[in-house]
Amino acid sequence: MSACAIQVNPLSDSGFFAEVVGADLRDPGDDAQFDKIKAAHLAHGVIVIRDQTMTPVQQIAFSKRFGPLAIHVLEDQLLAGHPEILLVSNKTKDGKYVGLPDAGRYWHTDQSYEPKPALGSFLFAKEIPADGSGDTLFCDMAAAYEALSNEMKQRLNGLQGMHIYNHSHKAFHLSDAQRDRLPGSQHPIIRTHPETGRKALYLGGKILKYVIDMDEADSAALLDTLYAHCMSDAFVYRHKWTQGDVVFWDNRCTMHFAQPYDDANYTRHMHRTTVQGDVPV
Ligand code: SIN
Repeated sequence: MSACAIQVNPLSDSGFFAEVVGADLRDPGDDAQFDKIKAAHLAHGVIVIRDQTMTPVQQIAFSKRFGPLAIHVLEDQLLAGHPEILLVSNKTKDGKYVGLPDAGRYWHTDQSYEPKPALGSFLFAKEIPADGSGDTLFCDMAAAYEALSNEMKQRLNGLQGMHIYNHSHKAFHLSDAQRDRLPGSQHPIIRTHPETGRKALYLGGKILKYVIDMDEADSAALLDTLYAHCMSDAFVYRHKWTQGDVVFWDNRCTMHFAQPYDDANYTRHMHRTTVQGDVPV
């Protein structure tokens, strides 16, 4: 498939979130295709690349074109033989979940608890619930920043947030060794995108514990105000998955939130690769 055959269709009036049709990610060496996908990713914040049928090796190879891949701290939830792939799945084997059945059930941006959080994440839908549930919400944090009052922008300028990953999942807790590896990271509340130069709010849902050097109540009140602002329909896009979708989001200027589904009756099985990013500034 030549890159000229690839179409990029924005799916919202603002241009946030676009659909890419006609790409084939099994060929990581196709430079024209890579350039087109990279440009779409930067322009739209989140893209869904339709109709993919990749192997884990092909997904890893394509993802790696954007940078080194992060290996998630949850080593028991990684694909055997391919630790670059985090299993977002409610499948079980020998009575245990093979992956994370409840990944991302809150607003967040990936791996904000790391000194170098994720640049972007590829989530490949291999099986989706037959009743069409299990959507993912995405928030445009650059547009949300731009819509703040000048007074609020000035108030946020220079503030830092503390991001810590210390919560429990549905079927397991982080081990002491995993907690020790992740003491948390401090990042600016407003960050500048290293490639587009656009400023964005950089928040982290329950991973962002508090604003540094601020009274606890003031910090909580400020974060509540910012989340209420971001959750406006003007900035949030709901993705309804189709099998074969690869959604590639830019963690530097978006947040996302996986919606619950009937996991007793339906399977939702996805492969996630995560590209490591820079230190936010
Ligand atoms: C994630 O946060 O990586 C998972 C998103 C999803 O399952 O929709």
